[in-house]
Amino acid sequence: MDDKEYWTEYYAKNSKPTDASSFAEFILPKLTENKNLIELGCGNGRDSIYFAQNSINVIAIDQVQTEVDYLNEHHKEENILFVCDDFTNLANTESEDIKNTNFDYVYSRFTFHSINERKEDRTLDWIESNLCKGGCFLLEARSMNDPMFKQGRALSETENFTNHYRRYMDLAKIISKLESRNFEIVYKIEDNNLAVYKDDNPYVIRIVAKKL
Ligand SMILES: C[S@@+](CC[C@H](N)C(=O)[O-])C[C@H]1O[C@@H](n2cnc3c(N)ncnc32)[C@H](O)[C@@H]1O
Repeated sequence: MDDKEYWTEYYAKNSKPTDASSFAEFILPKLTENKNLIELGCGNGRDSIYFAQNSINVIAIDQVQTEVDYLNEHHKEENILFVCDDFTNLANTESEDIKNTNFDYVYSRFTFHSINERKEDRTLDWIESNLCKGGCFLLEARSMNDPMFKQGRALSETENFTNHYRRYMDLAKIISKLESRNFEIVYKIEDNNLAVYKDDNPYVIRIVAKKL
């Protein structure tokens, strides 16, 4: 089963938005009302809906068509739109809404660890080209120090497969990639107790990077 099939099956059983993540709650006070945010890999839409309910204009992308359709059907508010797309290939998006919006924020929670490094680099290039000057890239993902990294089947020094693919993030490396793309790191942390879910207490990285 590939990653898209895994998430399609997962959201078929978990389509309803749950509460916003602790990362979204941490980020909201840093955002300015009426600015434009794009979420990369929105899943059941919980964080995008939370931002939209707090007066941020949101475009939320996910690869799972059925979930995107469900979310558009249940959220017809003016300031939120769900788009089915590959967030690692937005240079070729057919979405006029994405092409015609100047983004102040790019938000990614638990999605960068689901793509390989080639796709990460392509995504960072798109973010660099499409984020407004002074805008922020907001990232939370599993780190190399996450205990889950030792589980499942190792694929490389940073990748494994449990019930789906993950690539665990090196904080110094992603910071270096962002700095080389003209970003200033205004906040960074690597720790556990930030994204506890049931009995999973992952080590994560959080970054707020400002486009210069
Ligand atoms: C772990 S879930 C996180 C969902 C949400 N951000 C959250 O925190 O609840 C990862 C999500 O990223 C989506 N995703 C992974 N790779 C993607 C890609 N290349 N393009 C679009 N969506 C992708 C998956 O479909 C899934 O919904």
